[in-house]
Amino acid sequence: MCETHELSSLSIDSYLLDRSAHVPIYLFDQVESTNDLAYGYLSNPAIDMVAVLAETQTSGRGRRGRAWTSPKGAGLLMSIGLSYESSPALHYEEWPLLASWALHRALTRVIHENVHIKWPNDIVLNEKKLAGILTELSSSAKRRNLIIGFGINVNLRLEDLPEELRKKATSMFVETGQMYNRNKLAALIIDEVQQLRKDVSHGLRFSDIHEEWVAHCQTIGRHVRIVQGRDLIEGVASSIDHSGILTVIDDTGTHHRIASGEIIETSPLGQLSV
Ligand code: BTN
Repeated sequence: MCETHELSSLSIDSYLLDRSAHVPIYLFDQVESTNDLAYGYLSNPAIDMVAVLAETQTSGRGRRGRAWTSPKGAGLLMSIGLSYESSPALHYEEWPLLASWALHRALTRVIHENVHIKWPNDIVLNEKKLAGILTELSSSAKRRNLIIGFGINVNLRLEDLPEELRKKATSMFVETGQMYNRNKLAALIIDEVQQLRKDVSHGLRFSDIHEEWVAHCQTIGRHVRIVQGRDLIEGVASSIDHSGILTVIDDTGTHHRIASGEIIETSPLGQLSV
């Protein structure tokens, strides 16, 4: 991918593989959070999939109550909303893992090496965080609205990243020296999510992609520190099962099964500093 572009919904649309699906794409200069706007659009019963993008956010949300900031025009801030008729068969809890798979697939079409998933759903490039996903669900009696918010550090320069994050976070530009076309990347992600939505409606489960997901995940075999609620668990990440649960074995040999949490540090065995 080459030149940097301003975001444009027409341009994103022109890159979509399946343009027959008519996914509405809304683009804003500045919003509070694209996740919130995506909810709003799904309240229209005629819309069952929508993409909302912004050049910047004033209250961008990250996981676990954190903020997500990105300077205007440099990142990709996009929420994809999916609306379903309420059905317990759809296993919404698997979407954070499925979404990381979709994002990994899209990113590896553009960057061919060293892009990995960090459990549960971060994307790292050369071991540093490149992208995060915030998945939110709201239910009414009749419908479930699933919002998948993607924050990707695309063309940010090193100085655009908050100083305290520069050792842990990165951007596509910082790692490769290239500027990327954000319209094309947005289209690649929309295509992947659209395909996944179809596959899920035909019965695809995380267990079906488990092997491939784990093959792309950098967490297994690493020494990790994980915040789970108020607890800090430290040990070796030994496996991720077919429901996405991570097992960490601490140095007393205790197995901790972790369904959700935040890895604050991961390093090859023996290299975690105290
Ligand atoms: C994380 O903590 O890693 C998740 C970050 C998700 C940020 C994205 S940016 C677009 C969307 N809108 C938000 O308010 N958050 C998500």
